[in-house]
Amino acid sequence: MSTAAEDIILSTSGLTKEFGGFTAVNGVDLKVRRGSIHALIGPNGAGKTTCFNLLTKFLAPTKGAIVYNGQDITRQKPAEIARLGLVRSFQISAVFPQLSVLKNVRIALQRKRGDSFDFWRSDEVLSVLDGEAMRLVEAVGLASFAELPAVELSYGRKRALEIATTLALDPEMMLLDEPMAGMGREDVERIEALIRKVSANRTILMVEHNLSVVASLSDRITVLARGQVLAEGDYATVSKDPRVVEAYIGSGGGHAH
Ligand SMILES: Nc1ncnc2c1ncn2[C@@H]1O[C@H](COP(=O)(O)OP(=O)(O)OP(=O)(O)O)[C@@H](O)[C@H]1O
Ligand SMILES: [Mg+2]
Repeated sequence: MSTAAEDIILSTSGLTKEFGGFTAVNGVDLKVRRGSIHALIGPNGAGKTTCFNLLTKFLAPTKGAIVYNGQDITRQKPAEIARLGLVRSFQISAVFPQLSVLKNVRIALQRKRGDSFDFWRSDEVLSVLDGEAMRLVEAVGLASFAELPAVELSYGRKRALEIATTLALDPEMMLLDEPMAGMGREDVERIEALIRKVSANRTILMVEHNLSVVASLSDRITVLARGQVLAEGDYATVSKDPRVVEAYIGSGGGHAH
């Protein structure tokens, strides 16, 4: 087997989460290749969110291990893995609604430098960061909204801002929880292009319901059903797999969007 030759950035072995007597994630072995876009899909209740929360350390596993860059992170805290370069976007990347787009990104850059919430710094010192912040704002296509309070952005552009604040941490690996949830078609297209762009020199693992997005973005897909890995491969392979088709039909679809 050529596993040793593959460059695996994140792996799990026997990852298991029980809630009371119920096993939501059951012995999942996952291997995410460095530099890939990897999607976790599956019908409703398959265990995707639970699995994601285990990977991002929002939940502690009942059994199993998680290894990131050769280091066992099973018992580490979210802040610790963030320092190792494994960052979750969308749910913790706080956006300050009344502050401008640019200021939000600047604060994220300050956090990376370890002086979080140090609002006592002089404007002069802060302005040094503005150049870097503006580059990130441009990278996510928000240049013309840089001075707008975050609260006034459209839903899709708020998510672009969240990507910018996540990128400010310069993560080696980004974990995205349903990046397209609640988005209209135009926003989906914009965020899809953005994810593709920021995936350069990075690894991305995402849970996503929108299968056309999964099909066009993912290098590799893991299909979960009833807490277990049902199939794995590229989109063409897993979408033809009779067990996958059956799992989706059996659940009544599994597409929330
Ligand atoms: N905190 C909890 N306590 C008890 N059961 C839970 C808990 N969280 C999830 N579950 C159960 O675990 C199973 C997997 O849930 P999970 O949310 O991980 O699925 P999912 O694949 O994300 O589904 P969806 O597509 O609906 O988002 C479900 O049966 C759910 O009811
Ligand atoms: Mg879910």
